[in-house]
Amino acid sequence: MSFVIAVDGPAASGKGTVASGLARELGLPHLDSGLLYRAVGRALQVAGGDPDDAAAATETARRLDPHDLEDPALRTREAGEAASRVAVHAGVRAALLDFQHAFAAQEPGAVIDGRDIGTVIAPDAPAKLFVTASPEVRAHRRWLQLKDQGVSLDEILADIALRDERDSARSTAPLVQAKDAVLLDTSEMTIEQAADAARRIVEAARARW
Ligand code: DC
Repeated sequence: MSFVIAVDGPAASGKGTVASGLARELGLPHLDSGLLYRAVGRALQVAGGDPDDAAAATETARRLDPHDLEDPALRTREAGEAASRVAVHAGVRAALLDFQHAFAAQEPGAVIDGRDIGTVIAPDAPAKLFVTASPEVRAHRRWLQLKDQGVSLDEILADIALRDERDSARSTAPLVQAKDAVLLDTSEMTIEQAADAARRIVEAARARW
């Protein structure tokens, strides 16, 4: 079995940074699964479609080339919002399953970050982290990344509250900490401290594996 590290958590919790750091240190491939939903949301918007239309969103997800996630437009605030809206549709999630399962099955292992990796995509992952931080800290971090797009801290805080609510309340694969995931609250941590803590969690998981 491959050594899968599942890194879940809410928007701007630091899970992406933690996941890419672990992947680099361990020499494992990394998938940011949020990019899949962002790509679906973005493709739909470019085509003039509505992210709340389940049938259109599912069709877009089925046609997505999951190997093509490099577009910088996927990192914008609009793409994040569209992603969170298309992600509520069960058909969209189903269309993205095979690619994620194949990614998780790679030998010797893989790091995947998202919302439902430890609960749905890789429930048997030997290492699971649930990375979180307070909404204020997350908003501030996201604002530092996005302020050049002319967005205020208050707007980001409102976005984050809306996304937390939508990601947690949906019926299919909601954002929830897996029972066997280790909680990592990065509110008071620097990037280096979060990376150290994540490394220790993964080392302990590997020793038990
Ligand atoms: O991690 P992110 O901000 O790039 O994710 C964007 C949206 O995609 C998020 O609000 C919900 C959705 N998503 C999901 O439903 N499941 C995942 N595994 C990853 C992201």
